[in-house]
Amino acid sequence: MFIDTHCHLYDEYYSDMDMVIQNAVKNNVKRVIVNGCDMKSNKEVLELIKKYDIVYGALGFYPTELDGISDEELKWLDDNLDNSKIVAVGEIGLDYHYDETDREKQQYFFRKQLEIAKKHNLPVIVHSRDSIQDTYNILKDSSVKGVLHCYSGSLEMAREFIKIGYFLGVGGIITFKNAKNIINVINNIELEYILLETDSPYLAPEPYRGRTNEPAYIPIIASKIAALKGVSISEVERITTGTARGIFDFLK
Ligand code: NI
Repeated sequence: MFIDTHCHLYDEYYSDMDMVIQNAVKNNVKRVIVNGCDMKSNKEVLELIKKYDIVYGALGFYPTELDGISDEELKWLDDNLDNSKIVAVGEIGLDYHYDETDREKQQYFFRKQLEIAKKHNLPVIVHSRDSIQDTYNILKDSSVKGVLHCYSGSLEMAREFIKIGYFLGVGGIITFKNAKNIINVINNIELEYILLETDSPYLAPEPYRGRTNEPAYIPIIASKIAALKGVSISEVERITTGTARGIFDFLK
């Protein structure tokens, strides 16, 4: 069994969610962690985990979705994490890509959500874009563990994150032509620190690049990692699923 440790299966992107789930199962992807990013999507996550056996959830507020967010939303997060199918706080983090970014506000909500994760003894799923050093500094100060999703930093930083208890989420980007950086990371990091993810609906792997991604494509990513590592795809399946189970507390 494969696990898609990071995706956004929101209604607005998929016309037939039953089919998306069936396709995943058909392709041996039997656990899927759907991440929230704002109030609307967090509520969808709570519905999806009720509806589908294979779907587990992460709740959180994404760094570029903080408009109008206050401590009230943090209270809502705190109140909704005690659900046996919520396995993480995410997607949270820092994103300095856009000029108008309020970095202090992002850092405040990142730290607050880390505290909430800690209180509930949950791992975190972290987004970091053009902000790797600040992400590292904040995570280092916190004793929470988790995943750097869609890892895009250097090999040196990857090693530093691993030292403080983080794993690296790897997705469709490794199938792209210009994936030199992440391929260098994968070649030099043990398979035990790598998690599979699609980030659906974004970042579909080749040959589906540019189309709507779905959890069913996880084996394509696994097969690319297997080729890079010179191991079988079933070895990638066994190790990455074992790692995911060590981080996230799935019911079964
Ligand atoms: Ni994401």
